[in-house]
Amino acid sequence: MSQSNFKRTLITTALPYTNGPVHIGHLAGVYVPADIYARYLRLNHREVALIGGSDEHGVPITLKARAEGVTPQDIVDRYHKIIKDSFEELGISFDIYSRTTSKIHEATASEFFTRLYDNGKFIEQTSMQLYDEKADQFLADRYVTGECPHCHNPKAYGDQCEVCGTSLNATDLINPRSAITGNTPVLKETKHWFLPLDRYEQALRHWILDTHTEWRTNVYGQCKSWLDLGLQPRAVTRDLSWGVPVPLKEAAGKVLYVWFDAPIGYISNTKELFPETWEQWWKSPETRIINFIGKDNIVFHCIVFPAMLMAYGDGFQLPDNVPSNEFLNLEGDKISTSRNWAVWLHEYLRDFPGKQDVLRYVLTANAPETKDNDFTWADFQTRNNSELVAILGNFVNRALVLNRKYFDGKVQEASFTEAENNLFKEVAELKERVSQALETFHFREALKLAMDMARAGNKYLQETEPWKVAKTDMTRTATILNAAIQLCGSLAVVFEPFLPFMSARLAETLPMPQLSWDMIGRFDLVLPGTVLGDPGLLFEKIEDDQIQKQLDRLAQAKRENMIKSWQPEPQQPDVDFDTVMKADLRVGTVLKCAKVKKADKLLEFLIDDGMEKRTIVSGIAQHYPDPEALVGKQVVFIANLPERKLKGITSQGMILSAMNADGSLTLIAPSAPATPGAQVK
Ligand code: 2FM
Ligand code: ZN
Repeated sequence: MSQSNFKRTLITTALPYTNGPVHIGHLAGVYVPADIYARYLRLNHREVALIGGSDEHGVPITLKARAEGVTPQDIVDRYHKIIKDSFEELGISFDIYSRTTSKIHEATASEFFTRLYDNGKFIEQTSMQLYDEKADQFLADRYVTGECPHCHNPKAYGDQCEVCGTSLNATDLINPRSAITGNTPVLKETKHWFLPLDRYEQALRHWILDTHTEWRTNVYGQCKSWLDLGLQPRAVTRDLSWGVPVPLKEAAGKVLYVWFDAPIGYISNTKELFPETWEQWWKSPETRIINFIGKDNIVFHCIVFPAMLMAYGDGFQLPDNVPSNEFLNLEGDKISTSRNWAVWLHEYLRDFPGKQDVLRYVLTANAPETKDNDFTWADFQTRNNSELVAILGNFVNRALVLNRKYFDGKVQEASFTEAENNLFKEVAELKERVSQALETFHFREALKLAMDMARAGNKYLQETEPWKVAKTDMTRTATILNAAIQLCGSLAVVFEPFLPFMSARLAETLPMPQLSWDMIGRFDLVLPGTVLGDPGLLFEKIEDDQIQKQLDRLAQAKRENMIKSWQPEPQQPDVDFDTVMKADLRVGTVLKCAKVKKADKLLEFLIDDGMEKRTIVSGIAQHYPDPEALVGKQVVFIANLPERKLKGITSQGMILSAMNADGSLTLIAPSAPATPGAQVK
């Protein structure tokens, strides 16, 4: 639909599972871009609703509850609160953030199923499903693990293999095991209701492939592959006790599949927000629906949910766009909840109080819009120090400080010259480009262009040099600083979607009580005579020690994961006794130990071996940052290894260490002082 034909925009954000807090991957992929878009539309006085909520059903929640010995309700209550509070603190401006355990959601999802059932939209199928006899329950989705039939990953789940990405049925797994008892499940007959996606294939093909060629290529491409493979009926019910009960007498003990009820959550939450008018947000052709999601959700939002809406009929509109991002990695590795390899939002807010905008900035500047991207703490620090502090913060600070120095903070009358007109022209052009980028979901480009506006301000001050002009011409100085302050006003507006906290502080300083997108580029935003406030520094340098703390935490997570997944090396093939006895192992005392110059990994030891002193070069420097501390310690070494040269030093043996589960080394030493040169027998 063209921009001018719609009256309102309904923005939905993927409902996060409440089996853990949200992390930077969720934020970069979904919530920050959705919030930027909603704020931008509001600044343009468009009618908008930003819908969010927690996805509180699904097997991972029940597994976590079981592991902790609490109820699934306890788990979702805990994480719903953490997630909701942390979103609020980050400034995600939801019009509603609700949950799928709400009464209104249960009623809406039930009614949705019933209507499809009554209208003959489902097929019923009795099939053999995996059953854990010990736990006395069917094993759906993540209740079962086993070998992926495609890539042979031994730890695939009953709904998906996370290694090759294939979507699976639990019965596809080779050697399935129950996640509850570890038992091998048996097959048992059960009945389920399936949505025959194949019936909607033609309509979906036309809708996506013909009428939505403007969608991001990753989204369009993934949809095309699914459609080209041919769609199959999908079960919308499960044999579980946690979820929305299937509203049929014959379905006692069954619930709706989480991916059936979750997207209906968008509708329930809209109903909760607008009890009277919710239908116009879903059924009016004048409403545009935009779904912000991560790439693992594409099939559900572009194929399954639209098919559900088509089956339901009654005027429900399909999404106009589904701007899905790719994945954000962390320090080169995939973000993982179970491996604690993540930057958790609630922890970030605790560790960097008042720095919500910095995270929003970095996640947008580095957003994985077209390909997977990497978040690194070094980049976080650089973007804060060299961009937010050095460009944006610096410009605003200079404008305000100079105006305070020369005019006691009072905005002066101005007579603009060509230099100012050029500045405002450049700002007006940038405004158009930022708008264009935001309208088409190019958020990182939009942010870069907004930053160019601050760059233009710095260039203007550099060229006009008000601090020099002030020595001779206060009238001209007044004009220059007036222009700089008007530009601060534009910056307060253009950055509002991206950096709402900074924008609010700046707007209060100027003051500009109401912000509106059409203010950008105007030179009458702050009237002469206004006395400006003092917002202090808008951004502060982030020091190395703050970054190091975060890196240490990640290193600790990595160590813990190595320990968790550690397995002893398989035993080497047998060697005969005489061969073993040929190795001459001895105890030595370290006399000297130092790093080898220009070789990161090497340490040079001088050892008292009881006969004479011997030099051993060992590749263990990374494990011993303080080699001096080894002096005086006893070690075990192989004495009869042929000599070899390392970095020009002749090494006469090998020092023995044990390699631990976390990859660290422990030097092998006698348990009590031993005579240097004593043989190890
Ligand atoms: O992937 C997820 O985290 C899902 N809970 C997203 C659901 S989106 C919508 F359908 F509710
Ligand atoms: Zn696989």
